[in-house]
Parts: sequence; structure tokens; C-alpha cells
Amino acid sequence: MPGPRDTDVLVVGAGIAGLSAALAADREGADVTLATKATRPESASTWWAQGGIAVSRDDPAQFKRDIVDASAGTADPGAVDVLVDNADSAVRDVLVDTIGVDFDTNGEGFDYGQEAAHDEPRILHVEAATGKHVHVPFLNYVADETDVRVLEDTAALELLGHEGAVYGAMLERDGGITPTYAGATVLATGGIGALYPRSTNPADATGDGIAMAALAGADVADMEYVQFHPTAYVGDEAGESFLVSEAVRGEGAILRNGDGERFMPDYHEDADLAPRDVVARAVEAEREATGEVVLDVSPLDFEGEFPSLAGKCQDAGVDLPTVPVAPAEHFLCGGVDVDDRGRSSLGRLYAVGECARTGVHGANRLASTSLLEGLVWGLRAGEDAVGNDIRTVEPPELLDRDPELPDNFAAGKFRRLRRVMAEQVGIERTTDGLSRAQAVLRRLKGEVDAYARTRTSRSLYELRAASVVALLVARAAAENRESVGCHYLVDGADDGTERPGATVDTA
Ligand code: SIN
Repeated sequence: MPGPRDTDVLVVGAGIAGLSAALAADREGADVTLATKATRPESASTWWAQGGIAVSRDDPAQFKRDIVDASAGTADPGAVDVLVDNADSAVRDVLVDTIGVDFDTNGEGFDYGQEAAHDEPRILHVEAATGKHVHVPFLNYVADETDVRVLEDTAALELLGHEGAVYGAMLERDGGITPTYAGATVLATGGIGALYPRSTNPADATGDGIAMAALAGADVADMEYVQFHPTAYVGDEAGESFLVSEAVRGEGAILRNGDGERFMPDYHEDADLAPRDVVARAVEAEREATGEVVLDVSPLDFEGEFPSLAGKCQDAGVDLPTVPVAPAEHFLCGGVDVDDRGRSSLGRLYAVGECARTGVHGANRLASTSLLEGLVWGLRAGEDAVGNDIRTVEPPELLDRDPELPDNFAAGKFRRLRRVMAEQVGIERTTDGLSRAQAVLRRLKGEVDAYARTRTSRSLYELRAASVVALLVARAAAENRESVGCHYLVDGADDGTERPGATVDTA
């Protein structure tokens, strides 16, 4: 394998957060290695982002209020300040001036989009395919215009931890495993979509960074706050589903139930543009009550305004102007607990992007703040991570005796894991269901660990990461008795905030 080697800053993951961290560390003159298990841009969640990237325009105070309101008052105000106060300059510097993203414009300048729970249009976008228009030029820029060493198809399996700090990671490529020592390690491994049967994430989102950090002893927080997007195309038998951006509702599309009725005004005063958790629960309830929910795009020029999405609908055989939709796992608000520079509770270990819990999202994330958070925290962490010496510590002994897994081993375990997560740790949860889920997940993790003691392979480590993270989510959900934001406990205490979606009877 082309040898991963010692480096000042090791970044794991190549979405917007990892690329921003690598860019910032490179700008500081550090030797930077960026390892990604991906072989194509589509493996990063960034590529799939549709809506866009929110900026503050002329009213940062209102942007902050919208973030806090969408989180039902649970977002950390200090973290929100960091995000919003750095938003416009980071977007201008990196996305516009450095990598040249061509955001949509109109006769007056940027064509700001509107999404749920935003008080005004403030979202920069490229049609509804913003992610790939940011990700591809960013990847190319880092690979071609900086000194960052990009290692594709290279997975981090374990962190090199020692006495409360992290000194790099064990990297795997083509079955070969090598320790890479680093002055600092930045995790940017994205979300946990692979833990649920329907998700808007790429299949690779197995929670690797969160699991590695937790196993190394780092604090994690807010793991119960798994955000479900209300409108993913329901998909076919094979589960082919895709996100239908909130921007479509922002332009006037309307949710209707199986009886053809518009229902969101009964759930929230902001109707179809209510906070995401409220809309997701309402869609789920109406699907149960009336058989289906569709997004009616007839109030807008769907093909004209959202040509990529219209194309996807056409490919999937959707009979426009109505798109059958269902909630899908979309974003983990929690993760590795970090401060305003992405520093975790372990020395020299950083986490940025979706695998991190910065406090910005609290219990529920406002639309089009995830790319922004990855950008802002990535830059801050990358800058901060520079300047440590590189130390060598004893690497863990990873066994390579019998690397092949039985063909159906990982697939079977993933199926079991996804079933229990969807049934017991999904949009609505019960105390009993969460206990049962923990029991199943503990058994499953035990079985996976037994395999991991005898062999090392990427797919086994992904499965191990997924089982660790699933348990963290289920445990955090069981420990939090208060329904708030994305965590809705049917038999729990309500936080007192009036959120009509939480009153739907699911008996
Ligand atoms: C969307 O386009 O609806 C998703 C935007 C986001 O999750 O921030």
C-alpha cells in the first residue's frame, strides 16, 4: 500500500468539514494527511446536501434566534454565536473566493432560498443540488492546489490513544494496516445513516469517528437527537429513496395526506414550514392514519426551479405533481463533544462536522446549517490542530489471521441493527422499546466484538462502529425522560414547549 506516514495533522473524512480542516491546517504551513475511505465524492454526505448553506445577511441576531427556536431553546448560545458570527466571512473566503462556488443569483445578487423555520430567505444554493457543487470543487482544490496528502480508499480503524490523548490512527488500505502518527487528529467522518433502513445519507455513514472516539474514551453528547427529514421519496421495494429538499416547501409545495387533505396547519402555525421534528412526526402520523402522504408540487414550477430533483422523480417513475414521501434519518445532532475549536475531551483529538456535537443544534437542527457548521468548525479546528510534536505510542495489536468475513455476516447483522433502530429508536420512542433495543444491541455488539477479536477487516470495523453508535443512541434516548426536539418519548415527560406534533396519538 502507498504508505501512510507520520504527519502534523491527520484528518479523517473528506466532506466539507474534513476538507475545511485540511485547508486551514495547510494554510498554517502544517504537513497534512487526509484519509478517506471513499473512492468517489458521492460517499460523503456533503455531496448529497440539497437545500444549501445559510448565511446571516443583514440580520445575524434573527439568524441566531431561528437556530435557537428550531432547537426548542436547547442550542448552546455560545456555539450559535460562533457559527453565525463566522458564517458570512467563511463562506465568502472559502466557498466563493477560494474554490469558486457559483451560487445561484438573480437580478439583484445572490438568490437566497427559504426553508422551514427560517424567518427570511437566507440560504445560498445551487439549484437544489448545492452539496455536489460545493464538494467537487472543494475536493479538487485541496487535491490540486494545496500540499495536503489525500489518501483515498483508506479507512481509520482505531485511534492511537495513550494517557488521555490521541497520537494518530491505525489506517487500513487494501487489507494492509499501518499506524500513522500525528501531532493532532481531526475526525470528520459524518453521520449515522447506515443505522436506519431509510436515510438521506450515503451508505458509508456508519458512525466510524464517533465510535473510535468513544472507544478511546472521548466524551460524546446529545446522541439521542437523531433528526429525521420529513420528506424523503418513499422509495421502491429495494429501498431506493432520495431527499426532497425542504426548499421545495419553501417555494410553496404542500403536504397532503392519503385523503388529499392539507394537514400541516392542524399541527403548527407555520404549517408546512414548521420545525422539522414537528413535520416529521405529523407526516408519520398521517401516513399511519390515511395510508400515505404526498408532497404536492403543483403550486410551483417544479421542473423549472428544481430540475435535478424533477429528473430524479422522473427516473424513479414518480407521477408528478405529487411525490409520495416519508420521514428518513437525516442528521445526528449529537456526537463527539467538542468546544468552539472542535477540541474533544481527549488531548490532540478534534471532531468536526456531523460526527461532532458542538452545541449549535441542541435537540433539533435548523435547515441548511450543517454545511455551515462543517465549514466554520473545520476551519477553526484545522487552525488550532497545528503545532504539536509527533509522538510514537504502542499501536494496538490488530489481528489479521482470517480477514474474510462470512459473506452474509455483516449484511445480516446490519439488517438486525436497522430493524431495531427503526422500530424502537426512531421518530417515536417508548421506555419499554428503548430497554428492548438496548438488550438486542448489546447482544449484537457482543457478537461483533467476538469476531473483531479474531480478525480485522474494514467491513467488520464499520459494523462494530455502527453497533457501538447504535448503543450510544439507544442508551442516551433511554436516559433522557424529556421529550424535546428530535427525541420524542411517547410515554415521557414533555419539556413544556408547545409543539403540537408531539400530541399525535400513536396508540
Ligand atoms: C433540505 O434540503 O431539505 C435539507 C437541508 C438540511 O438538512 O439542512
